[in-house]
Amino acid sequence: MASPDPCDFDPANPAHVATWDEASLWSALAGQLLLDRVPLDARCAMDLGTGAGFPGLELAERLGPGALVVGVDPWRTALERASAKARTWGVPGYVPVLADGACLPLRAACLHLVVSNLGVNNFADPDAAFAECRRVLAPGGVLAISTNVVGHFRELYDVFDDVLLRAGHAEARGRLRTHVAHRATVAGLTTMLARHGLRVTDVLERERAWRFRDGAALLDSHLVRIGFLPAWREVVGEPAGPVIEALREALDARARDAGELRLSVPLAVLVARAA
Ligand SMILES: C[S@@+](CC[C@H](N)C(=O)[O-])C[C@H]1O[C@@H](n2cnc3c(N)ncnc32)[C@H](O)[C@@H]1O
Repeated sequence: MASPDPCDFDPANPAHVATWDEASLWSALAGQLLLDRVPLDARCAMDLGTGAGFPGLELAERLGPGALVVGVDPWRTALERASAKARTWGVPGYVPVLADGACLPLRAACLHLVVSNLGVNNFADPDAAFAECRRVLAPGGVLAISTNVVGHFRELYDVFDDVLLRAGHAEARGRLRTHVAHRATVAGLTTMLARHGLRVTDVLERERAWRFRDGAALLDSHLVRIGFLPAWREVVGEPAGPVIEALREALDARARDAGELRLSVPLAVLVARAA
């Protein structure tokens, strides 16, 4: 039987979401750095943008018995999966809550710690989410977020821009610049957090590489097809197929020259304290 095209991934289909944990290898690039930096004395915490439970479940286990970690996300099916894992693994301290970070159903000053792994680039209104984080954090509470930052996949975006230039797609090149610039920067996040009374006290920056044999391997991988390719197609506009094919050929050529296709993933963890 042919397997379904992962581009048809349905975020409301439990069977599809049950396969989503494989994404944790990607999530772990940033999540490990985040878990290295979180204080472990918190008793009440929140994982904002918890998805299928990462890193909230892990955090609940590391904080130990008696600690509570609320996993917040508006993605209902992923939360059902997080809930099933909490039951199966026996992690009573992890409690999934269906909500938007911009409007948290939590009382003011009730938390000691807020974490968020790879969340901020996905929030429609990060300013509103951080205002809410400040409201629910007790004075002296800690916010620790990890994110990939501008510079992410820069090798691919350089090749993509060259492909668009050669194809004479001036408008698409403008859309590509906007797409690349939408990712966070440490300076921008520091300023945004300060606006909401969250003073950054610690920044950790690391760069990891995401390695593939060539462009075909990259573009065929399920996480790229589900998580990245739809936005790249939007950058190109209709019809996207020939440009994506030219991108694959250009990435293949780069990989032939270099022996592999190596994409940079610059990551940052910011730790901030509530005033
Ligand atoms: C890249 S995923 C990261 C998921 C998980 N933290 C991980 O590391 O695997 C981003 C998550 O943010 C969630 N998200 C998007 N908008 C949100 C919002 N307004 N409030 C809370 N979570 C949101 C998405 O549903 C998704 O689960």
